[in-house]
Amino acid sequence: MRDMQIHKNTSLKALNTFGVDGNAKYYCEIHTMEDIADLLDWKATNKAGENSPHLLVGGGSNLLFKNDYDGLVTKICLAGRDIADEDENHVYVTAAGGENWHDFVRWTVRQKYAGLENLSLIPGTVGAAPIQNIGAYGVELADSFYSLQAVDLGTGEVFEYQKSACKFTYRESIFKSQMLDKLLITSVTFALTKESKQPIWKTDYAGVREVLGGKELTAELISDVIIALRQSKLPDPEVIGNAGSFFKNPVLSLAEWQVLKADNSEVPGWEQANGDMKTSAAWLIDQCGFKGYKKGDAGVSEKHALVLVNYANATGADLWAVAQEIMASVKERFGVSLEAEPRVISC
Ligand code: EPU
Repeated sequence: MRDMQIHKNTSLKALNTFGVDGNAKYYCEIHTMEDIADLLDWKATNKAGENSPHLLVGGGSNLLFKNDYDGLVTKICLAGRDIADEDENHVYVTAAGGENWHDFVRWTVRQKYAGLENLSLIPGTVGAAPIQNIGAYGVELADSFYSLQAVDLGTGEVFEYQKSACKFTYRESIFKSQMLDKLLITSVTFALTKESKQPIWKTDYAGVREVLGGKELTAELISDVIIALRQSKLPDPEVIGNAGSFFKNPVLSLAEWQVLKADNSEVPGWEQANGDMKTSAAWLIDQCGFKGYKKGDAGVSEKHALVLVNYANATGADLWAVAQEIMASVKERFGVSLEAEPRVISC
């Protein structure tokens, strides 16, 4: 007898921060490791389980449902956090995959553990964070990631992934490519620096530097400043449906960058370790006049050109149509191809 329930026909609205509606043919929640065993059992022994596409969701803050989901949606609700280990300079903190990311970050900064403060207020869960190697204000998750534990959804085997195995790059990892939908991330461990051991703070970002100048730095203070900055620059998904940045910042070869820069002297660019240039998707979109754009209920935030928003009752298809319009416009004007950052789900 399984404890975990598989529900039929569940609304998607509360499962994504865009707040788009739609129907999940099947839906279940994972609260315990036993629930994972039940899930694997249902998948293996039930015809619908064997044949259905399967999508794992955390906070639903990095996906766009283009329409109904004709399969099983599983929400990861695993909870708990723990200090796994400690050495002279570091604490190794483990959090369960379903923990809210921001609540976890605030807990670490209050304990005076440094490393995650710049990643404050990013929506989503701990287990989803490594998948796209979340990043903000000069810091990426990979910088303080130590390891994670995941269950293979095919075999039920439990694996430990050390940092090098995760293949973290800008907003990418092995969990978003090769291992996509194959693993359920149950917990993540971070190596955080004790505040008393002189952590390397990353405060050299416009809007952070100016506010902190001259003050004695703590993880909690930096977190407070990042929260205020995000609140001023980005729309709150609790108030207006969105999934943060909808496009990745494009990385151009030096030759492509030089062509772009020759015609657009103001375009921002950041040199990458391999000599490529990352440019600003927000700037390109803004120049095409899309900031504050509205087409029905779908559009672009008035606060930030990179954030697609659901002004009221937009469908996933409405939002995707706006995204395509933006991509076509940026391609035509600047010759640059934009790539969606959230997962666009069509099933
Ligand atoms: N800009 C515009 N118009 C706008 C907004 C920005 O032209 O409406 C230009 C400005 O010139 C600015 C530049 O874009 O200098 C960069 O803007 P910002 O500092 O806001 O950063 P971003 O590159 O747009 C990235 C991340 C954000 C993260 C911020 C801060 C990506 C795809 N996005 O945005 O992450 O919070 O940096 O570090 O890398 C997210 O992933 O969901 C997210 C919000």
